[in-house]
Amino acid sequence: MTTRKRLVVLTGAGISAESGIRTFRDMGGLWEEYDVMEVASIDGWKKNPQLVLEFYNQRRRQLATVEPNAAHKSLADAQNLFNVFIITQNVDNLHERAGSKNVLHLHGELTKARPTGNPSKIIDIGYNDIKWGDTVDGYQLRPHIVWFGEEVPMMNEAVKLVQTAEIFAVIGTSLNVYPAAGLLDYAPKGCPIYLIDPNDINIWRRDVTVIKEKASVGVPRFIEIIKNE
Ligand code: APR
Repeated sequence: MTTRKRLVVLTGAGISAESGIRTFRDMGGLWEEYDVMEVASIDGWKKNPQLVLEFYNQRRRQLATVEPNAAHKSLADAQNLFNVFIITQNVDNLHERAGSKNVLHLHGELTKARPTGNPSKIIDIGYNDIKWGDTVDGYQLRPHIVWFGEEVPMMNEAVKLVQTAEIFAVIGTSLNVYPAAGLLDYAPKGCPIYLIDPNDINIWRRDVTVIKEKASVGVPRFIEIIKNE
């Protein structure tokens, strides 16, 4: 009985694109329509919290109407063969809804909220809106999302996961945003690295196997490859 290899995966918006959730920097991406600093930064929140709340209310409402795609499901199924650990930059819950158990959200979760004055009190709100005036312990509720200008509290835990990877895969991320993109530097020496993306990603490492496909095709193919390694 061979022990299961540790498969660590970093995912970005691209893995949810085929579920109908817009990416950020692609053609038609969210940051083409919205000013990221107005709707996804701590300064934007201080300037116009109602605009920020509405931006995430729209994202949350849409999340209730979409489903995991073949890529999410393929990673969930891979748990039968590997010890799978997912580090996602996404705030959607599609990995969990596909059946993935070990999911670390680097940038927070749409279905969670917290009182501004008590950041450790994380509340499940499902797909419900957060309205200005919704308070807990007298503090306005805010999305449990890491905004630009804020710390990424789960980063150390993510680094530790990548440092223990026996196979590391990067799926559907433009690797534009730090510190998440820097996780690539923590893969152990000799650990096979795969990158799945339909577009060309300028990657600084030479030792990466690129599967230039959309996730719904590339992820099942990736699992087939590593199954037989
Ligand atoms: N399958 C796989 N990858 C895809 C697909 C698809 N069907 N469609 C697009 N992609 C790829 C794009 O080529 C791009 O490389 O997904 C990537 C999306 O990149 P971004 O839009 O920059 O999203 P992401 O890398 O997740 O952004 C990181 O930026 O705005 C912040 O907090 C936000 O978590 C987000 C972070």
